[in-house]
Amino acid sequence: MSEPTIESVLHEARLFQPPADFSQQAHIKSLEDYQKLYDKAKANPEAFWAELAEQELHWFQKWDTVLDWQPPFAKWFVNGKINISYNCLDRHLTPERRDKAALIWEGEPGDSRTFTYAQLHEEVCRFANGLKQLGIHKGDRVGIYMPMIPEAAIAMLACARIGAIHTVVFGGFSAEALRDRMVDGKVKLVVTADGGWRKDAIVPLKEQVNKALADPATASVEKVLVVQRTQQATEMQADRDVWWHELEPTLSADCPAEPMDSEDVLFILYTSGSTGKPKGVVHTTGGYNLYTHITTQWIFDLQATDVYWCTADVGWITGHSYIVYGPLSNGATSLMYEGAPRPSNPGCFWDVIEKHKVTIFYTAPTAIRTFIKMGEDLPKARDLSSLRLLGTVGEPINPEAWMWYHRVIGGERCPIVDTWWQTETGGILITPLPGAIPTKPGSATCPFPGILADVVDLDGDTVGNNEGGYLAVRYPWPGMMRTVYGDPDRFRRTYWEHIPPKDGHYTYFAGDGARRDEDGYFWIMGRVDDVINVAGHRLGTMEIESALVSHPAVAEAAVVGKPDELKGQDIVAFVTLEGSFSPTEALGKELKQHVVKEIGAIARPGEIRFADALPKTRSGKIMRRLLRGLAAGEEISGDTSTLEDRGVLDRLREGT
Ligand code: PRX
Repeated sequence: MSEPTIESVLHEARLFQPPADFSQQAHIKSLEDYQKLYDKAKANPEAFWAELAEQELHWFQKWDTVLDWQPPFAKWFVNGKINISYNCLDRHLTPERRDKAALIWEGEPGDSRTFTYAQLHEEVCRFANGLKQLGIHKGDRVGIYMPMIPEAAIAMLACARIGAIHTVVFGGFSAEALRDRMVDGKVKLVVTADGGWRKDAIVPLKEQVNKALADPATASVEKVLVVQRTQQATEMQADRDVWWHELEPTLSADCPAEPMDSEDVLFILYTSGSTGKPKGVVHTTGGYNLYTHITTQWIFDLQATDVYWCTADVGWITGHSYIVYGPLSNGATSLMYEGAPRPSNPGCFWDVIEKHKVTIFYTAPTAIRTFIKMGEDLPKARDLSSLRLLGTVGEPINPEAWMWYHRVIGGERCPIVDTWWQTETGGILITPLPGAIPTKPGSATCPFPGILADVVDLDGDTVGNNEGGYLAVRYPWPGMMRTVYGDPDRFRRTYWEHIPPKDGHYTYFAGDGARRDEDGYFWIMGRVDDVINVAGHRLGTMEIESALVSHPAVAEAAVVGKPDELKGQDIVAFVTLEGSFSPTEALGKELKQHVVKEIGAIARPGEIRFADALPKTRSGKIMRRLLRGLAAGEEISGDTSTLEDRGVLDRLREGT
């Protein structure tokens, strides 16, 4: 485990008060109100969550126990019956809300669709009936490998409606990565599209599905439901593949939501860890619904007329919680965009804001840094005056990028919520509440009410103010993951044993370094394990290493992150070759391409460095700390006495 470093933002002292007019009409209006909520939740978390659950959600049957905590396994709202699709759709079919836009969608080529709550409800019911017709029952797993089109959200809600468990795989993952997830999740049906638009090109998703399913290990997959989007020729397998547009006209739009147990699994989402293959993070229904609902409402300060846009992909947790479930559970208007800034339209984000009068905009620091590079003229040429709140997520935001976002996009009037959370946490845990908490550029500020966050050492003791430590949570919360799919031991080891339990009290270990300042503000320093964050995408170094060593030329590989101005981190791979291969530029390119094939373009190493050996300890462990230093071009200092062959380091430094 590496030590968190705290230098970069140690001296940031600017403070931005919530604008008075914003606070006046906000859900949480002042620091005092926040403090009251926080204290109330801390004094009796179960009562706090129960009150919100009762007030904010529809239950078919009330729970009898709020929390059953058998560390590290939690059950929330035990024996409650609920359906998140019902909470996102049916209960908004009131005369006032049924004709409100639920989903506004913009396609990359410029096509656009809007679904009112009544229309979205109908589409979801039809899709759910389609799933049933194709043999899907409660508890079955459905893979969703989709571009950013409305049917991705519709498929998720349709699964939730009938109690099928969805597992969404980001459309940028390769056929191999898709296959691994389908096998691990024992998926019965895959929802996909012929293709999607990405940066002026078609990503042929169905082709990838065909490749993935050619592997006999995916035999659990019986059907593939294909949405037509890009209309290129697509190979369909007669007994397995079904076009959505052919099935749809045969389906009824009547499909009552299945009352689910609070703890029935809602979805599995794969994410990278420091060891082994990506793990299936399991989220269940009741607690997740409540947590995403209330965090969306308070953190994005949703008001009836807001147009809310989160730029994430539904393939990641941000898309699950803050494009689909959180906003729709609140009856908000959620905007979904297929495209990304691209050579043919670098200002497309600002066009979307201007066109739809977006009021809340939530994106990633890496996107903001890219906008900075593209210059102020692009956003300044558009009318962004509809914006009233900005958010960021996915990686630490450097104060300069924060200031640019505040000044150029927010016109110095919009509060910024820098939201810290993870796939595992289900929703945002540390964040400003925009009408209440003054912000400091680069700090995610304070824990959400009900979240007992802390910065600790490896004994679990709280460290002093401004000392680096490990980010931890002391008490369960409704949105937390319940387990690793099929591997409860891995769940226990990864999150609950790094910090030894004391007197029966378990502490959640997030894998991030952090410090808390004298005002109690949290500053997140990045991962302390072998997970790297490349342009806001989370990748395990070991996954990339496994991909590299599966190439016949590679004997050994060690992957580290190196600081990158735009992406936050870039991937550097140190590689030793099998005897008959020599280090050439062509081989370097081939290895990068090989990683793309095995995982996806998001994992393409920025740099491959050939070496004759890797620096190891006498017990054979690769010394990544040294490699990280080398990759960053630093002078190697610190203790190298455990290094087995000191010559290795000199040769690596010289670039042999
Ligand atoms: O390192 C933290 C970083 O992203 C990790 C979680 O990645 P993932 O599960 O893919 O979820 C990303 C979206 C929630 C965290 O362990 N991270 C996320 N948000 C922030 C952050 N680091 C600093 N500041 C943030 N606001």
